[in-house]
Amino acid sequence: MNRVEGRVKVTGLATYAAEYPAEGVTYAYPVQSRIAKGRIKRIDGGEALAMPGVLAVLSSEDPPRLGEEAQGDLALFQSRDVAYRGQIVAAAVADTYENARAAADAIVVEYEQDLHDVTLRADHPNLYQPETVNPGYPCDTVKGDVEAGLDAAETGIDVTYTTPVQHNNPMEPHAALALWDTEDRLLVYDTAQGASASRDLIAKTLGLPREEVRVVSRHVGGGFGSKGTTRPQAVLAALAARAVGRPVKAVLTRQQMFDVTGYRTPTIQRLRLGADAEGRLTALEHVAYEQSSTLVEFAEQTATPSRVMYATPALRTAHRLVRLDVATPSWMRAPGECPGMYALESAMDELAYAAGIDPIELRVINDPEVEPESGLPFSSRNLVACLREGARRFHWDRRDPEPARLRDGEWLIGTGVAASTYPSRRRPSKAVVTMREGDFLVQIAAADIGTGARTALTRIAAEALGVAPDRVHVELGDSDLPDAPLAGGSMGTASWGSAVVRACEGLKVNGTVGRADTTEEVKRDAELARHAFGAQFAEVRVNSVTGELRVSRLLGVFAAGHIVDARLARSQFIGGMTMGMGMALMEETFTDEEFGGFLRRDLAQYHVPACADVTDIEAVWLDEEDGELNPMGSKGIGEIGIVGTAAAIGNAVYHATGHRVRDLPITPPKIIDLMF
Ligand code: MOS
Repeated sequence: MNRVEGRVKVTGLATYAAEYPAEGVTYAYPVQSRIAKGRIKRIDGGEALAMPGVLAVLSSEDPPRLGEEAQGDLALFQSRDVAYRGQIVAAAVADTYENARAAADAIVVEYEQDLHDVTLRADHPNLYQPETVNPGYPCDTVKGDVEAGLDAAETGIDVTYTTPVQHNNPMEPHAALALWDTEDRLLVYDTAQGASASRDLIAKTLGLPREEVRVVSRHVGGGFGSKGTTRPQAVLAALAARAVGRPVKAVLTRQQMFDVTGYRTPTIQRLRLGADAEGRLTALEHVAYEQSSTLVEFAEQTATPSRVMYATPALRTAHRLVRLDVATPSWMRAPGECPGMYALESAMDELAYAAGIDPIELRVINDPEVEPESGLPFSSRNLVACLREGARRFHWDRRDPEPARLRDGEWLIGTGVAASTYPSRRRPSKAVVTMREGDFLVQIAAADIGTGARTALTRIAAEALGVAPDRVHVELGDSDLPDAPLAGGSMGTASWGSAVVRACEGLKVNGTVGRADTTEEVKRDAELARHAFGAQFAEVRVNSVTGELRVSRLLGVFAAGHIVDARLARSQFIGGMTMGMGMALMEETFTDEEFGGFLRRDLAQYHVPACADVTDIEAVWLDEEDGELNPMGSKGIGEIGIVGTAAAIGNAVYHATGHRVRDLPITPPKIIDLMF
């Protein structure tokens, strides 16, 4: 299907959070900490308050009242402590954005500065073992004897990979418009990946009953995790609206987004793998070192994909976290799986070369019967079929396994492969379907963050009702609609779709309306290992003089259950793969070790792939039937596209050059260093 909201988007009629009109609207502009650690001694807003159009200065000098459960980065102006450079410490509210910005500049903040520590190291003395890693997995797992397995191995590798801080950069900046509506409820137009969840968190933060808060986010211009949890701009807008008694917009600049909307933790990952003479794994150990802020423990589940991927008698995974004077990391595009599979799938490639086995065959030999760590059966697992289909389409059989053989003038050419995986979960959701004048209205507080959720749900409802899609209208993005989980963890379609199908079934029985709540249905889901799988293939060209890198071909083959809509799915897959290319070659935010905070805070410095970087990309999928998932038989596809892509590209760079870059992103200077 074409996007049902395609026309309103391309004609500019789709309204985003910052664009809603409000009478008497005012603007809040944040002041950010200039130190990375310490205390605020004094904030003087006197000069700012005397400036034209200025209505209020908010700060910890006179802390606005928040709920008792206000936490972390959302507990604005409650503490005098500074946790990281860039933290919001004050704000100016004025009649125009420009006046608010000028006033914010005039707010004087005096600090008492402490020495900061913003550098992740694998030997950091404050590393610790968190109780769990996101979203609730055990931190460490051990099965069998890893040391014995490594000792018994015919071939072994012990390698460390590092990934940098990475930032989500949705096209639509984080923004909120807060006002009290006609029923005296707080109404927040927010850039949220989930209206229900955002309403709950805003209510909790402000200490309001949730019935007194409404969140509307009908169109969201990308999120990728950064809009998965409510961000400070929503709380800032609400506090400011309360302070000045008028509607307030708080729109973050791109630079501010780098500080306060989350990022992917840098990782240091050590992989030790052993294999016998046939290539069967004898041991696999995956240890990840990560950072969080002093405000919030955010423990990315980096090593968890190693619990899912390969059969081995000895398996150990572990995470170690250190709380630094840095901004709080957060959700970003396949959190855990994405950096974890970069390391695991690069290590598998290194093992394949060390053992003299084709990298596809190594993965096939070690494909497990049951989920390795849990011992649970898979609801379906078709990684091997993806690898085989990809090999056929990519002409893998024509590949010379020796690295650095193929050359076209100055260009070295190589190919690489890696596997993908992502969990297939669903969460409880509600939905209502109503018949109106022969058409059908689907109502659900789902979010369309650019993925095509409206369209997917239109199609799911049409199929469940047995009517043409143009008779179905989907209303979403409003917390006054039936409660639904957020668009995250690749769970949206599975969760919302389940409720929509059940509501449609109810309507068919009742005649005019169907209501569903899948809480009980989801509880009854059998205990199984549910994951989507895929195989990524990359061809790269590396310039032997300049180190310039080009990805000349990308192919992804996925097994993700029933694909709800081919056009939407292809767009998601190639979007994810393109993000993987960014991770492999470009994306990196430097931490400012001297002053704290980040260097590179806009799209001129933080590079993502442009169309010209993506020359030949294709995503295909296998027909996969899985009756253990949800009424659609679908697995989530929002995130698996990025998983494994960076490893496939890195493996291709090795094949092209004979050199292994173990530190992302793979940039020309790193290539040059290795080649000369
Ligand atoms: Mo995505 S990082 O699960 O919003």
